[in-house]
Amino acid sequence: MKPSKNELINVLREVIYFPKGDNIINLKMVDDIELEDNLIRFRLLFEKIDDEKNQFLIDTATQMLKDAFGDIEIDIIAASQENSLSKVRHIIAVASGKGGVGKSTVAVNLAIGLALQGMKVGLLDADIYGPSIPVMFGNEETRPLGYERDGKSYMLPIEKYGVKMLSIGHLVDKEMPLIWRGPMASNALSQLLLDTEWGELDYMVVDMPPGTGDIQLCLAQNFKLSGSVIVTTPQKVAFADVRRAANMFRHEGVNVPILGLVENMAYFTPSDMPEKKYFIFGKNTGKEFAEELNLPLLAQIPIDENVSQANDTGTPFSFNGFSPVAAAFEKLAKKIIEML
Ligand SMILES: Nc1ncnc2c1ncn2[C@@H]1O[C@H](COP(=O)(O)OP(=O)(O)OP(=O)(O)O)[C@@H](O)[C@H]1O
Ligand SMILES: [Mg+2]
Repeated sequence: MKPSKNELINVLREVIYFPKGDNIINLKMVDDIELEDNLIRFRLLFEKIDDEKNQFLIDTATQMLKDAFGDIEIDIIAASQENSLSKVRHIIAVASGKGGVGKSTVAVNLAIGLALQGMKVGLLDADIYGPSIPVMFGNEETRPLGYERDGKSYMLPIEKYGVKMLSIGHLVDKEMPLIWRGPMASNALSQLLLDTEWGELDYMVVDMPPGTGDIQLCLAQNFKLSGSVIVTTPQKVAFADVRRAANMFRHEGVNVPILGLVENMAYFTPSDMPEKKYFIFGKNTGKEFAEELNLPLLAQIPIDENVSQANDTGTPFSFNGFSPVAAAFEKLAKKIIEML
């Protein structure tokens, strides 16, 4: 009898790909599932298509499907996982359940911080409806160049401050995405990721839109994220949003490791009294959130009016020499390198 897609996926979850120590569903190796009355067909995506060990995995999966569903034809097609992101070692999502907490600020300064540590870094603006990367980098008018490979057109990311980046804001008029419906936005995101010649990168930082909607799910389910960073502010009322974001990444079927929390606008230090810290929105809140969710608190970023100004004038802060904020971002970048 023809199994449902869910039943099929449940069986495939038992198939472990030993070189990576996880099952083939979590590893996003299964693609293009077709179910017919007497046939199960799908593609199994391998990093190296000519690896001798691939056949062993195909045989194991075939046997497990036969054991589960009886006499049914199984057609597993080995295919190459290669795409524009194949040479990207780690994709890191910067997210939060809430708007305006500083995701874009953290994403931009983390990307630059990683680049300043000598890493090859990309930055993708996944905020299709409200992109901020072009403003923060002061390159709103720049358009990516085109490039052709194997008869297919790609975009080349735009480079500034040592970071390769791309945003929907670099492609279309600001107002345009606002009228797009969900699938168009998800499609645009996939194109930014897959139709762009990212080349070799140590880290790709993704600036997520606020909340836990379609775009977040599209990214988490279709691309292999190495980890996520959740940004919060120190108000206790923010906890529900932080928990929602954490639950989204921990949800079965999403399963993205959370590297930790970043508490933005954690305190205020007047520039003429650098030893003072004023905890305007609450003290220890980030630490409490982190403990409650059993996550590390990766960084506490102070409030600094220059951050806002830097964002608005396209000269990211971390690029601007020493300050407590730049130091906090440097520490964050080093921690991420240590973790991944
Ligand atoms: N540490 C900081 N000190 C001062 N201003 C900050 C700080 N972090 C962020 N801001 C400012 O707060 C505003 C919101 O920041 P940002 O755009 O990074 O948030 P966001 O979470 O990406 O927002 P959205 O949900 O709209 O995408 C911006 O004007 C930014 O310049
Ligand atoms: Mg943003």
